[in-house]
Amino acid sequence: MADFSKQLAERANTINMNAGPSPLPDAALLTAAASLLSYPETPGMGIAEISHRSPAFDNVVVKANDSLRKLLEIPSNYRILWMQGGGLTQFAATALNLLAWYRIKNQLKPEDEVDAWYAVTGSWSKKAAEEGARVGVNAKKVFDGKKYGGGKFKGIPPASEWDIPQLEENGRKPAFVYYCDNETVDGIEFGGVGSETSFPFDKFDPEVPVVADMSSNFLSRPVDVSKYGIIYAGAQKNLGPAGVTLVIVREDLIVDLDEAVKYGGTRVPSMLSYKNMADTNSMYNTPPTFTIYVCSLVLRSLLASPPLPLSSPDARPLSPLSDFADQKSSLIYAELDDGSGFYVGTADKAVRSRMNPTFRLNGGEELEKKFVKAASEKGIKGVNGHRSVGGIRTSIYNAVTLDQVKTLVAFMREFRDQNQ
Ligand SMILES: Cc1ncc(COP(=O)(O)O)c(C=O)c1O
Repeated sequence: MADFSKQLAERANTINMNAGPSPLPDAALLTAAASLLSYPETPGMGIAEISHRSPAFDNVVVKANDSLRKLLEIPSNYRILWMQGGGLTQFAATALNLLAWYRIKNQLKPEDEVDAWYAVTGSWSKKAAEEGARVGVNAKKVFDGKKYGGGKFKGIPPASEWDIPQLEENGRKPAFVYYCDNETVDGIEFGGVGSETSFPFDKFDPEVPVVADMSSNFLSRPVDVSKYGIIYAGAQKNLGPAGVTLVIVREDLIVDLDEAVKYGGTRVPSMLSYKNMADTNSMYNTPPTFTIYVCSLVLRSLLASPPLPLSSPDARPLSPLSDFADQKSSLIYAELDDGSGFYVGTADKAVRSRMNPTFRLNGGEELEKKFVKAASEKGIKGVNGHRSVGGIRTSIYNAVTLDQVKTLVAFMREFRDQNQ
């Protein structure tokens, strides 16, 4: 076995706060490295060198699905799909699959238009609404965070202030309601740290499927999957390397997209069809086998050794990760709220992300550049804000340790003391 001591030492000296792709657990990466050369179930052949239709790879997917079902307590009437094309592809796929489901269910005519409601709380849900409109839904914003924040995404008011249309207006329900659980760019999360702001399911007709983009807070807390029609997440934050998107979809929403053509639907590329993916156990074409394998290792490591002990015997499998995320993010937010005004959080306190705390430096952009550079010199990497908004973003996914966050906070204090 190769000696990875140099690489491991480099990793130990680095705090990787990239927003995605982002750090993965050492143990999973070491196993993956060895398996690239020779996989235990296929000695002499690496995991990236065997057929996706082999029993060995089939086992990988079975085990990964099994771990996911345990961790997220996924009910048996939900299917797990491993798809390609990232979150951006799901912006289209969620809309296209649910459009087809809706057209068939309501036996629509070609001229009938279909509404979908989007809660636009940040950059990603904004983009999803635009893509939904491109592929054929009437995308209505039930909440526009940019308007609410005076040109910037910063908060989410109570649902009583959302613009939820009366169903009587057009007589038909929307095909779905869409939201993003954690806005990675803007640092805004439903149920952010210390907050009760959760998605207002009770404001919507229970027959209307809710679609959630959980790309950047997937596996960071328990989720009641039964409340959703579709949950999806790009792997490249808490789950594994880039290249695969996990889709959890309620079985009754999976339809034959070609059948919808009879009801005014358009032809959709086969690769976007949830039915094709479900019917073939996500092997409709060659999936990104190595990426899925690494995801399976990460899932296994989460089950085997959660970062904190279970808080109580009846705690849910992801409760320790939720406590862990609260603990880490609270340290950073406490620093923003220290009263000096040197750091200024960009998101309202009620919706502060547990995964991507974002903030500005009161001293302006030049000082922010200096902060990013000084952090990097200390081994703290990837803290620059998203290119569209600037500022600072400290992404603290599951693989970022409490000690690493403490080091970041110590650095923030030192930098403030030297520069205020
Ligand atoms: C919440 C969220 N949704 C969607 C996306 C887009 O994902 P992708 O780049 O995999 O298409 C991202 C990317 O970071 C994201 O953070």
